[in-house]
Amino acid sequence: MDIDLSPGLPDLSGFPRSAWWRAERSVLGGAAAAEFAYGDPRGSHTLRQELASWLARVRGVRADPRDIIVVGGVAQSLALVAQTLRAAGTTEIAVEDPGSRGAQDALAHWGLEPVPVPVDEQGLRVAELVRSGLRTALLTPAHQFPTGVVLAPDRRRELLAWANDGGLVIEDDYDAEHRYDRPPVPALQASAPERVVHTGSISKTLAPGMRLGWLIAPRSLQDALVAAKHASDLGSPVLPQLVLARLISHGDLDRHMRLTRGRYRTRRDAFLTALTARLPSVHVQGVAAGLHLLITFPELTGRVDDTDLSESLRGAGVLTHPLSWHRRTPGAPGLVLGYAAHPPDRLREAARRIAETVQSASRARAERKHVPRAVRDYG
Ligand SMILES: Cc1ncc(COP(=O)(O)O)c(C=O)c1O
Repeated sequence: MDIDLSPGLPDLSGFPRSAWWRAERSVLGGAAAAEFAYGDPRGSHTLRQELASWLARVRGVRADPRDIIVVGGVAQSLALVAQTLRAAGTTEIAVEDPGSRGAQDALAHWGLEPVPVPVDEQGLRVAELVRSGLRTALLTPAHQFPTGVVLAPDRRRELLAWANDGGLVIEDDYDAEHRYDRPPVPALQASAPERVVHTGSISKTLAPGMRLGWLIAPRSLQDALVAAKHASDLGSPVLPQLVLARLISHGDLDRHMRLTRGRYRTRRDAFLTALTARLPSVHVQGVAAGLHLLITFPELTGRVDDTDLSESLRGAGVLTHPLSWHRRTPGAPGLVLGYAAHPPDRLREAARRIAETVQSASRARAERKHVPRAVRDYG
């Protein structure tokens, strides 16, 4: 049976169906008829009120309900922001390298050219952003995708200085709630609400199929973003918004997150232990957080291509993302491995197949290297 380790998926089998069902029944029983009309394109006031206080508590976000636009996930936020900035004359946007391929494709689709800026163990190299002369940057500061590093305090200060000097940060808070070793760093938006566009969703905490998220922008951009949301779909579906509001107000979302955090931590530990036992030279990047791991193989640089590795793994029934999908600058081969959806036994089995595949790829390469020249020329 295939083991799908594509990054970004929470444990969908753990979706809190009973809590959702209870909340939906109660909402349907209690909502005023007027709630089902075309509403404010920013979304349900009830949900925006709950989000304002929940995001303040869990992420330190500073927002009034009227500053929040309910969207169909971070993907829609990126679409609305890109359209709005493009209409105002922006043509390029700095993106993290490595960084989310999906997010970059979305920006490019809406007419903004992504310009890569390198990421190291401290997060985005802000000095290079400053040197680039770009005025807009998309970042995942709390838990960088795909490296898993957290933007270091010095870099954070430099980035805020850049923003306060006329820059605009788009903060993609895509899985910030899943920190296992300590509470997550507060959102960047908390330090510069007029220079940061903050966006997040329930894709990683509940389920991506819900297509529900939030966008909180500086006041100067709000009218244009609300107009873009209105032009796009007149507003997000109301029933899931009211259900989410109730899950937040009754503590169900917090309870679900506490439960999944413990479960994901156990899974991450099991996977890491199995991987490092079978592949002692593997490099594991990032902090104990999120729904995926990035592993790299520095000693195989230039010898093994991670796209080939990922393809061989597909043949062995393990679906992964090669790091090079999410990277513009060449570097050590690597694999992005989503672990949250699988119990420890499956992850140990995946680690076994990954180790076998990596070992056989590096052996094949070493054998090729030692083939006598005449034979090699023949092939
Ligand atoms: C870094 C990053 N940003 C954004 C998204 C899209 O999130 P959403 O489902 O909220 O649209 C993803 C999805 O996996 C992601 O990995």
